[in-house]
Amino acid sequence: MSENLSQHNGPDHIGIIMDGNGRWAQAQGLSRIKGHRQGVETCRRIIDACQDLNVHYLTLYAFSAENWNRPEREVNALMELLELFLMKETKLLVKQKVRLHAIGRLEELPAKPRRALKKAIEATKNFKEWHLILALNYSSRNEIVDATKAIAEKTAKGNLSPENITWEMIAANLDTSGLPDPDLIVRTSGETRLSNFLLMQSAYAEFYFTSTCWPDFTKAHLEEAIRVYHNRERRFGRTGEQLDVEASLSR
Ligand code: FPP
Repeated sequence: MSENLSQHNGPDHIGIIMDGNGRWAQAQGLSRIKGHRQGVETCRRIIDACQDLNVHYLTLYAFSAENWNRPEREVNALMELLELFLMKETKLLVKQKVRLHAIGRLEELPAKPRRALKKAIEATKNFKEWHLILALNYSSRNEIVDATKAIAEKTAKGNLSPENITWEMIAANLDTSGLPDPDLIVRTSGETRLSNFLLMQSAYAEFYFTSTCWPDFTKAHLEEAIRVYHNRERRFGRTGEQLDVEASLSR
């Protein structure tokens, strides 16, 4: 590597849509479930890579609310993999001082992975620097519905008047409350959709799409995504000239 990526400013939070497990497996005559199993190995590799590259927040889209529509056998295998992942990972997360969070309608997960999740979250709850967020039974639209209901209840009870509703209030009612917005969203396997992932939170995120399937995704691929991110100019609604002036003032 010609540059030390970990010295750069950000991205501090990367969200990943881990796509292509099925196609990766099918291309080599393996079952889709083997592809997911390999995908779990990639998760571990990328958690390590994030620490090396100074990325403090990593959100992995592990199971969408729409994924229940897959064949029952595949859904069951994914839930088993999730439970195994959590049981195996907890020790490592503790060793690496990574705090685990989960977003999504967790109460609808089967009892076993839900229990493993609760334990892992509890075991890592005091860590402050590194964060792994698993999106499970997650749907941005569901999350917005849930946040809207919570706010509507407050207004119905007379505790909040509608004109006082702010974005900050909405954000505080999303599952990601307390977590920073993602700076960079990566999707593997050549698809270029968001598929209901962090729609509100990625309002100002940069996007990086790669044709590499998730089981083949390595630290080198992540470094490339970060390199591309560093070449983008994030203006947050301002002009390039304004940014240049600010940069020269801060030098
Ligand atoms: C997409 O591949 C991936 C998923 C639906 C889930 C991602 C799950 C994993 C990486 C494994 C489980 C993760 C954890 C943390 C336990 P796909 O099946 O849609 O691939 P395809 O588009 O090629 O069919």
